[in-house]
Amino acid sequence: MIKARIPAENPDANLRDYRHTYENFSWEDWEKRFTWYGSDDLNIAQEIDRWAEATDTRNKNAIIYQKRGEKQTITYLKLKEESSRWAHLFTSKGLKAQDKIFVHLPICPDIYLIMLGCARAGIIFCNLLPSLSMDEIVMRIEDGKPSAIITHPDLVEMIPLESIDERIKIFLIEPPLPGAHPGEIDVSREIKDMPAEFPPRRFPKRTPLYIAYTSGVSSAPKGVVHTHYDMVGMLATGEYVLDLKRDSILWVQAHPAWITGTVYSAFTPWLIGATTVVLGDTLLASRVYETIEKNGIDVWYTTPEVIRTLIEAGEDLPTRYDLTRLRHIATVGEPLGPEGFYWIKKNLGHSAHDTWWMTETGIICIANFPSVDIKPGAMGLPVPGINAMVVDDDGNELPSMSMGQLALKIPWPGLMSGIWGDEKRYMEYFKFKGMLLTGDMVIKDDEGYLFYQGRSDDLLKLQGERVIGPYEVEHILKTHPAVKDAAIISISEEEDSERAFKAFVSLKEGYIPSTRLRYELKSYLSTKLRDINIKDIEFMKSLPRSCGGDVLRRVLRASELGIPIGDISNLNACSVPSLESSKKEGG
Ligand code: PRX
Repeated sequence: MIKARIPAENPDANLRDYRHTYENFSWEDWEKRFTWYGSDDLNIAQEIDRWAEATDTRNKNAIIYQKRGEKQTITYLKLKEESSRWAHLFTSKGLKAQDKIFVHLPICPDIYLIMLGCARAGIIFCNLLPSLSMDEIVMRIEDGKPSAIITHPDLVEMIPLESIDERIKIFLIEPPLPGAHPGEIDVSREIKDMPAEFPPRRFPKRTPLYIAYTSGVSSAPKGVVHTHYDMVGMLATGEYVLDLKRDSILWVQAHPAWITGTVYSAFTPWLIGATTVVLGDTLLASRVYETIEKNGIDVWYTTPEVIRTLIEAGEDLPTRYDLTRLRHIATVGEPLGPEGFYWIKKNLGHSAHDTWWMTETGIICIANFPSVDIKPGAMGLPVPGINAMVVDDDGNELPSMSMGQLALKIPWPGLMSGIWGDEKRYMEYFKFKGMLLTGDMVIKDDEGYLFYQGRSDDLLKLQGERVIGPYEVEHILKTHPAVKDAAIISISEEEDSERAFKAFVSLKEGYIPSTRLRYELKSYLSTKLRDINIKDIEFMKSLPRSCGGDVLRRVLRASELGIPIGDISNLNACSVPSLESSKKEGG
């Protein structure tokens, strides 16, 4: 475990005194920030409309959409008006509060307007990744039973109209191509004629706002339900963790089908009255720097995968851009790791603040804060209002420095309110009273910093009782100069047999897979880690990763054992569109 300690970057951040705030925290204090405080009826759109109604903020940008160097801006007033038009359009087509609509669109400004439009009318939205296969779409339609699907002519072919319920309406945001199905409704003209005022309808606190299908690291995707009340957690984490201020220009590189794109690229900055930047292009290292420079981004929430892309592109590139407005960098999805941390520190002049959460938690729960010292390699400390425990297989809390499962005391504003249509799977998270079991293995040090050790189901059993998180082994492999990315799985089935492992490795540019390199990597690992018996190393062009950046070891394991790989829809598709899908390499 890393002992280094990097002093806090900004003692004057929104959250000044972590310990004091943590001890005196109350969610009710945050509820007071909303217009509905004191009543049970609310709507997240109502809170966002406040900026459109105030004269000093109505012309401020809510969204900057950038594609191929061109900028399109949407002010808070326009956000209110355009989202109102969508609310009218959907209700005029017969959709009622609590009906569901699937949004299957490539990243574009309309997704954001549609999400807020649905919120106004109380329609539950569910964003689907544009890269989903037909089978995956059908699986979600059968599970979520939407009343309508809104899509684009380029994507509509992926919806097999003949095999889905014919009552589902299909809306197209652009005119259909010749040969359109009679059931498809082109709404591109109608939307313009809709009234620009749709006052948000108020609903009880726990009314569903959206459904997000999880990446299913170890099982089929589940429709995680989130409510309007999540806004309380969004506001608190937006201010405390992302350090957003009213004049912030935030960039989050995530399609809204990954919850990060819904929560932190849309609703959170809007609740604060900040500006969110959305990039419609494929992500290259130069485009990252250019986007930060051109838009004057001050807060950047990204992923370790993007940081690896920057590292690959070299140290010279960032020197060509003016990144002086950038003041806060945070990451999510997988461990940032010391290598990424120090590279960013050296080349961008800032600490990257790792944060942890999951679709089920709805908001960031563990984080590094700008006013708190960082231990590189740690995912940080619990967010004020969140009580994090490390528990054993019986739900007993473990002392510090022991590895166990991360469990969070329930409830908090942001916690999922259900798994759509599957009460049993929902209840599995709450096997032990009063806590959400996350399935993530962690170690808490004596100051409360949490260190990620992998998913509970990915743990590697070494000789005897020794258990090791795959992350630790992968991290060591990644310190070898030839290795860009690595994953490790267990390949021995029987409990008592000698444990054996297989590593999957992608190489940095300039290195070629070879038997010799395979041998070298094996001995490299065994000099650094005792008791580990690596049977094989396979070279791959890139490793399968979920939207969150998690290595999908389950996919590697399944292909190794020759069994079906399950749902892989979130593979590498939403955070870094340019990354190639995994391909095996020779050697
Ligand atoms: O295993 C954890 C990993 O991503 C999982 C959640 O994935 P998903 O629901 O797709 O993401 C939602 C928004 C992040 C977690 O169970 N994960 C997330 N953040 C980190 C992480 N693993 C290590 N370090 C992190 N900072």
